[in-house]
Amino acid sequence: MSVMNHHGKVEKNSILLTVLVLIVVSIGGIVELAPLFYLESTIEKVTGVRPYTPLELAGRNIYIREGCYNCHSQMVRPFRDENERYGHYSLAAESMYDRPFQWGSKRTGPDLARVGGRYSDEWHRAHTINPRSVVPESIMPGYPFLARTELKFDDIAQHLQANATLGVPYDEAMIAAARADVRLQATVDGDGLEDFQARYPKAQARDFDGDPNRITELDALIAYLQMLGTLVDFRVYQPTAGDNAR
Ligand code: HEC
Repeated sequence: MSVMNHHGKVEKNSILLTVLVLIVVSIGGIVELAPLFYLESTIEKVTGVRPYTPLELAGRNIYIREGCYNCHSQMVRPFRDENERYGHYSLAAESMYDRPFQWGSKRTGPDLARVGGRYSDEWHRAHTINPRSVVPESIMPGYPFLARTELKFDDIAQHLQANATLGVPYDEAMIAAARADVRLQATVDGDGLEDFQARYPKAQARDFDGDPNRITELDALIAYLQMLGTLVDFRVYQPTAGDNAR
């Protein structure tokens, strides 16, 4: 009976109710937020994850410019159907150098987080120029102009620099070599492939668009698509104790 009386008081006094609500909400907030201030990082470090090569970064910029994210997500959820279709669920570390991240939730087309290596460069060329040429029922728009447009990469060092400012570990040497690295990765012409692959382990270097005379936007986009989800070796990856998303 006495509890009910007190409750009546709180219900009739809006100021008292507001104060009590604020106290309860603050306790909840502190419990949720305070531990985060004592964590060094909320992202578990994972072997193999590295910053994008300058060519891949240029491809990512095209992906964002063309709005591919309006139809494609880049995050495999930890559910059985997703894992059977796309592969291992995405790790936070896999997008730690994405500024901004491309997780998304709109899936008019399939998730692309693990599309790297799933198709040949020829397939991507045909598909990007005219999706219906390889997937007759596709509703994806074609992007034929990418194959005709030379990649503008005079300013690629600044793109690396901007990412470095945001915490992506591009060092002086990477920024200085950025323009040469675009050329090297898209043409494999010239020395320095070993140095390049030491800077960017597992980077694939070849003529992605099938036109050896030019470096096009399609070169950059395919280089980007072909590396998505390929950096972590899931045959040896062991989730740490904190990772219970299984
Ligand atoms: C209007 C929605 C839409 C847009 C925009 C779009 N796509 Fe797609 N995409 C689709 C659909 C639907 C499919 C599945 C049919 C197919 O393979 O063409 C698809 C399939 C794909 C696939 C094959 C994936 C797989 O696992 O089979 C790739 C790669 C791809 N898109 C890349 C891109 C890129 C890169 C862009 C931007 C340049 C883009 N898409 C823009 C709808 C879209």
